[in-house]
Amino acid sequence: ADGTVEIPVVVNILYSTTAENVSDTRIAEQIAVLNADYGGTNTDVSKIPTEFQGVKAGDVKVRFKLVNTVRKSTTKSSWGTTDVNNNTMKKASTGGIDATNTTNNFNIWVVGRMPNTRGDILGYSSWPEDSGTWKDGIVIAAPFFGKTGTSANFNLGRTATHEVGHYMGLRHIWGDTTCGDDLIADTPTQTTSNTGNPTYPLYNTCYGVKRSVMFMNYMDYSNDKSLYMFTAGQKTKMQSVVAANGLRAGL
Ligand code: ARG
Ligand code: ZN
Ligand code: CA
Repeated sequence: ADGTVEIPVVVNILYSTTAENVSDTRIAEQIAVLNADYGGTNTDVSKIPTEFQGVKAGDVKVRFKLVNTVRKSTTKSSWGTTDVNNNTMKKASTGGIDATNTTNNFNIWVVGRMPNTRGDILGYSSWPEDSGTWKDGIVIAAPFFGKTGTSANFNLGRTATHEVGHYMGLRHIWGDTTCGDDLIADTPTQTTSNTGNPTYPLYNTCYGVKRSVMFMNYMDYSNDKSLYMFTAGQKTKMQSVVAANGLRAGL
């Protein structure tokens, strides 16, 4: 009645070790993080700076409900660049798990790790345009899934929060290029991505305009504990994707 969309979630786990076979508790923990972050009830909203209070999303009105968990044993721990490019984890015929009806369900695949030439990929996502296709959904490497993984800096479930942002049509806040455009009016233009735990306030200048950097936006690359907000503009975009006339209306 208040326009909240409850999204059915299917978690597909491909494991070669017990550590990679993330527990039901860990799955519940990850779903709880998504519900808090998308509901604006995460405890660290208290850290949102006063200057960004006016543009914070609050409740995005999207919630997540686990409807099934699919587990499959594999000999593969490392899913490399070719696997990522071809989405091999998403097809049984290539050693993965077939998605469950992506028009009506949000599919998450959890794999051992995704090494590439620059280090490990934490996760990646499809876009709203991919709704209904076999490859629609997000992939997260096991160490970064839930809140009790083995990663020191990506240990609060915010990789999934970030990937779901992409799944809902959001781009990176820096627009993937120097002083790029994320097509969201209320996110401040910023020079590039942030890493680690930046100290507020942090300033940068794009096209002669100096701005305070919103490094705590979920669509930046800061560590999990330094990410705690979406903006109202990002909420509007995500709502348009799940709306009755949106690309993800089936969810
Ligand atoms: N590098 C990944 C992406 O671009 C995920 C980044 C997640 N960041 C985090 N602090 N968990 O989609
Ligand atoms: Zn991203
Ligand atoms: Ca912007």
